[in-house]
Amino acid sequence: MSHTSSTLHVPDVAAVPRHIAIIMDGNGRWATQRKLPRVAGHTKGIEAVRAVVKACARRGVEYLTLFAFSSENWRRPSDEVSFLMRLFVSALERETARLHKNGIRLRVVGDLSMFDARIQALVRRGEAQTAGNTRMTLTIAANYGGRWDILQAARQLVAQTMADGHPAPVDESSFAQHLAMAFAPEPDLLIRTGGEQRVSNFLLWQLAYTELYFTDTFWPDFDDAALDAALASYRARERRFGRTGA
Ligand code: IPE
Ligand code: IPE
Ligand code: MG
Repeated sequence: MSHTSSTLHVPDVAAVPRHIAIIMDGNGRWATQRKLPRVAGHTKGIEAVRAVVKACARRGVEYLTLFAFSSENWRRPSDEVSFLMRLFVSALERETARLHKNGIRLRVVGDLSMFDARIQALVRRGEAQTAGNTRMTLTIAANYGGRWDILQAARQLVAQTMADGHPAPVDESSFAQHLAMAFAPEPDLLIRTGGEQRVSNFLLWQLAYTELYFTDTFWPDFDDAALDAALASYRARERRFGRTGA
């Protein structure tokens, strides 16, 4: 039952969330505040990624999902977009071995067809190399959008129905099986850094009952203490999933 909707199945309340999703925002403002070019914030942000992966694995988090590039981020100036692509390539090249050594499984979700062949090959290689790891699953959402995810799941369901020749019942769990993150339980905790209090087209379906945590800290400054503050806030929540507190 662990992969079914939390709206149907109430997960055990644990001290540590099984699944943390993070909208890593504020890189540009971090840099601007220091009179640096925006992209310097993205480079610094990679260090924060490395640290949070390590910290979450140590704390026993099973799934960590990071929003790295949204389907709307193509609207940025082309030099910033190409810088982010180069950063993605170098992170995949440099970090995959370290993830593997630490027993971490790498997954990438999003419409990868928009990325160049080199990135697609690195993603496939990283996912294959780490496929047997069970300590924690790190999912990078790249060219991901919550609406894209819901639509691609709907398209898969329609295609399956056409192939089967008869309409299949569509319910929450049959639908959710086609979502890009069907391999994971829904996030228990969503963290957004950088001060904005919005979801920006991240995991729309899966966030139905997720606890939301917003912090003004810019992503490059998000350290172990900032993570622990988010975890402390999570522990103090009462998750009711539509029921009463009793
Ligand atoms: C988040 O930081 C990183 C990406 C969206 C790739 P931003 O680049 O959005 O930083 P701000 O929000 O402009 O400060
Ligand atoms: C959300 O940040 C996307 C990622 C962190 C990858 P944005 O900076 O793109 O979000 P908006 O534009 O402020 O909503
Ligand atoms: Mg932003």
